[in-house]
Amino acid sequence: MRKKIVAGNWKMNMTLDEGHALVAGVLKGLPELSNDKQVVFAPPFLNIQHTVYQVEDVQHVHVAAQNCHSEVSGAYTGEVSAKMIAACDATYVIIGHSERREYCHETDAMLAQKTDVALDNGLKVIFCCGESLEIRDAGTQNEFVEAQLKAGLFHLHKHQLANIVVAYEPIWAIGTGRTASSQQAQDMHAHIRSVFAAQYGQPTADSLTILYGGSCKPSNAAELFACPDVDGGLIGGASLKAEEFLGIIDAMVKA
Ligand code: PGA
Repeated sequence: MRKKIVAGNWKMNMTLDEGHALVAGVLKGLPELSNDKQVVFAPPFLNIQHTVYQVEDVQHVHVAAQNCHSEVSGAYTGEVSAKMIAACDATYVIIGHSERREYCHETDAMLAQKTDVALDNGLKVIFCCGESLEIRDAGTQNEFVEAQLKAGLFHLHKHQLANIVVAYEPIWAIGTGRTASSQQAQDMHAHIRSVFAAQYGQPTADSLTILYGGSCKPSNAAELFACPDVDGGLIGGASLKAEEFLGIIDAMVKA
């Protein structure tokens, strides 16, 4: 059975103290999570180690980095390697978020390299994809997302797919308050699964966790998570308040 995950992407928010309080608040209200469910915190690099210590005794709760460098090590001032993240006992790294693709000019080739270096260091990857409003309006979103996934992930061997989670995040829905309808999300998630099925076979596609991201909140999470191919969410804004994040976790637990 594939895993359901709710992951909170804090982006460039939360000092060490603020992050500590947020995690403490979420852990306080956390419902019991069965083996097929996970909650993930993706704090800024500076909070990773502390967050790992905070959740280390809590079952099914993990920590992710929001990015890693594409090279193993070396003269890259200001950067953080996958090995360093893994050494903090983080479990995941988010790769290919649309904000990094846009503001940091991350290319498909770079993302494929980051994926390799992350997997080589024992991290699991939350790989983001998603189209702009222009592409959605042109009706070519399926082809666009398919091309992103092929470029970033399809060089992997089938056995490596067990360490990949896909997050579909339509850019027009990120931080805009405009959520994809559950039908739009389901259609894209089913498409993504079919693309993986064609490349890696149906059993591999069936065990792939595909998250939805983009203005997901407690009021719409239940409807989104009820879709057969939506296996949870990558949450930005609503992951910054314990109560809201717990509302979304609750929707996953009940889905
Ligand atoms: P949002 O961000 O929930 O604030 O729309 C989602 C994301 O970028 O991961």
